[in-house]
Amino acid sequence: MIKNFIDNLFPLRRSELTAIKRSKIISLWICYIGVLIYFGWKAYKLSQNERTLSYKEDDSSPIPAPRATFFSSYNFTIDCQTVYYDDSTGGCNKYVTNTYPYFGGYSLNFSAPALEFDNPTDNASALLGIQLAVYITDPTFPGGDAAVEAFFADKDTESDLASASKTPRIKGVSGYESTVALANSYYIANNQTYALFYSRRILSPLHQNAKNVLSGNGDHKPITMISSILISYPNLVVGSYAAVLMRPNSYIVVTETENSDLTVTDLISAVGGIYTAAMTIYMFLFGADVIGPWGLIQNLPCVRRKVRSTLHKSLSPNIPFSGPILSDDLSVDQKLKAIEKRHLALEFFLQDYVVSVENVVNDDTHKGDIEAPTEKDIETSED
Ligand SMILES: *[C@@H]1O[C@H](CO)[C@@H](O)[C@H](O)[C@H]1NC(C)=O
Ligand SMILES: *[C@@H]1O[C@H](CO)[C@@H](O)[C@H](O)[C@H]1NC(C)=O
Ligand SMILES: *[C@@H]1O[C@H](CO)[C@@H](O)[C@H](O)[C@H]1NC(C)=O
Ligand SMILES: *[C@@H]1O[C@H](CO)[C@@H](O)[C@H](O)[C@H]1NC(C)=O
Repeated sequence: MIKNFIDNLFPLRRSELTAIKRSKIISLWICYIGVLIYFGWKAYKLSQNERTLSYKEDDSSPIPAPRATFFSSYNFTIDCQTVYYDDSTGGCNKYVTNTYPYFGGYSLNFSAPALEFDNPTDNASALLGIQLAVYITDPTFPGGDAAVEAFFADKDTESDLASASKTPRIKGVSGYESTVALANSYYIANNQTYALFYSRRILSPLHQNAKNVLSGNGDHKPITMISSILISYPNLVVGSYAAVLMRPNSYIVVTETENSDLTVTDLISAVGGIYTAAMTIYMFLFGADVIGPWGLIQNLPCVRRKVRSTLHKSLSPNIPFSGPILSDDLSVDQKLKAIEKRHLALEFFLQDYVVSVENVVNDDTHKGDIEAPTEKDIETSED
């Protein structure tokens, strides 16, 4: 059994020189072990599940105004103003909620999905910024610092995170949540004006499961967020505690899509490619080996019998599969007939299972090139 397997693994010709036989075996071992090591390495890389981010830039749509949440330990209001590139201004207090009690203090929200920043190179009257001025209205406010905090997010962040966290096993949602929360949280000090410059980003983390692991193109749940910086100036809004002017610093939205570095398909094709390359070099050096015309299907227990009997039937009238005919008690003519039949049957067999011999059959210029194997050759193949 094992010997058969090894023989199939290293099919060798009886007529081969011993030195070449040895180097063939060594080369094959090197090929197989090399491919095995390569497979192991690739499988390890696959198990690491490494990912690459691909970038896509899009400047075709305007940038929506961010959402903002303010918090203070003293009651306050916010006065909203829009500023345009054509020097006009507008009111936007309808986008600001009333304060509501929050963790022993007060909080309010600003949310204006209708306000959008067009690229000023395309729109001369585009929105330049949205100014939110904070006024402390609390009668108990003694002056000084009112512990105002502000948190900015993209208008879609909240629903994106909610929908992403509904996807089971999506990795890194908590990471994105804290990134979204911490990256755009600021402490607003007294008597300052701030400029909040922000850009919109879309992250598309990969969610892989058994279904899509083959292709590597897992489900993507986009999470829209902003990255921002806050720059402070002396207070320009007289009478206010502080003011924040929100404006985009880029009209390009970058989408970062997570992709698998390596998929099962990649693994198979990479290992297959390396194996083919190794075998091509091997065949270049040592030539092709015997063709195996019987595969798994022909070797299935139920099929195998039929294959055998069909083959036996097709050859048996001419090849009797029994003792040598020459020693039989036949006339010379009968013997010649029998030999011819066997010869023909062998040709048919060769045509069916080894190589097309049509060209060889009619070509008698090479007659005598092929020598019959000797007893010695047969013996050496046994060890
Ligand atoms: C907080 O301030 C607002 C605006 O001045 C006022 O309408 C509201 O009643 C105040 N709330 C509390 C609980 O004092
Ligand atoms: C304000 O925003 C927060 C955080 O997004 C949310 O939990 C809260 O319900 C909002 N409140 C109002 C009055 O819109
Ligand atoms: C230019 O921007 C303003 C402010 O956002 C908007 O109202 C207006 O429709 C825009 N004009 C064009 C041509 O898009
Ligand atoms: C606020 O800042 C301005 C400019 O720096 C300064 O003139 C003013 O006195 C400050 N007001 C308070 C109440 O600190």
